[in-house]
Amino acid sequence: MTRKLFIAGNWKMNTSLADATALAGAIVEKIGSVETVDMTVCPPFPYLTSVKEALADSKIALGAQDVFYEDSGAYTGEVSTAMLKDVGCTYAICGHSERRHVIGETDELINRKVLKCISDGIMPILCVGELLTQRQADETIEVVSRQIRLGLEGVSSADMAGVTIAYEPVWAIGTGITATPDQAQDVHAMIRSLLGEIYDAATANNTQIQYGGSVKPDNAAELMNCPDIDGALVGGASLKADDFAKIVQAGK
Ligand code: 13P
Repeated sequence: MTRKLFIAGNWKMNTSLADATALAGAIVEKIGSVETVDMTVCPPFPYLTSVKEALADSKIALGAQDVFYEDSGAYTGEVSTAMLKDVGCTYAICGHSERRHVIGETDELINRKVLKCISDGIMPILCVGELLTQRQADETIEVVSRQIRLGLEGVSSADMAGVTIAYEPVWAIGTGITATPDQAQDVHAMIRSLLGEIYDAATANNTQIQYGGSVKPDNAAELMNCPDIDGALVGGASLKADDFAKIVQAGK
């Protein structure tokens, strides 16, 4: 098994232009030359260009927090894959739980975004994860399986080489409550076995599955030491260069 760890910082709706460029610069200084871990940061759309400049000559890729599935036209407020490529994005997060539950995105919409990314050469990070009520009702496997199946509808095993899955239990996001390594590993193993069913063993083995939800420097190593956890999608702690660097170093 030769999966590389992949650590992404999702800055969400945070930072100013000055904060974003300073944060990117500080992250580059600390971990910009790390090659053993795949890394990306996902700033707000208006700051992508400036952050890209700050990331220049580093090993840290640029990512977007969302994307739309049409090429261009009357879609007020949306951003296309071509626009993301224009400003140097490699990745786009699709179906983050805040977009599912605050904005109301459906699995079908998210699937269109994933397919559009794949067809246009942006690497999607497909987020899945259950609500606390669903976990308490023992529905985690059912919910996450449905999100994976619907999110990956029409995605071939060859396409999966460019797809990352992020398991983010909604109850662990921004709450300071992290899934225990065992809880996270259980779901990650289930996701990998589902990928084996949908595709094949090689695809399942090669797919990077990130964990997200209150990942911090002090819990990153034990989470990423689990056999099926291949890195992290980090929210709050990615806004501090020191913390983000420590999380990357925990996986190095
Ligand atoms: P926190 O790390 O702030 O819990 O956020 C996780 C997340 O939603 C990353 O996409």
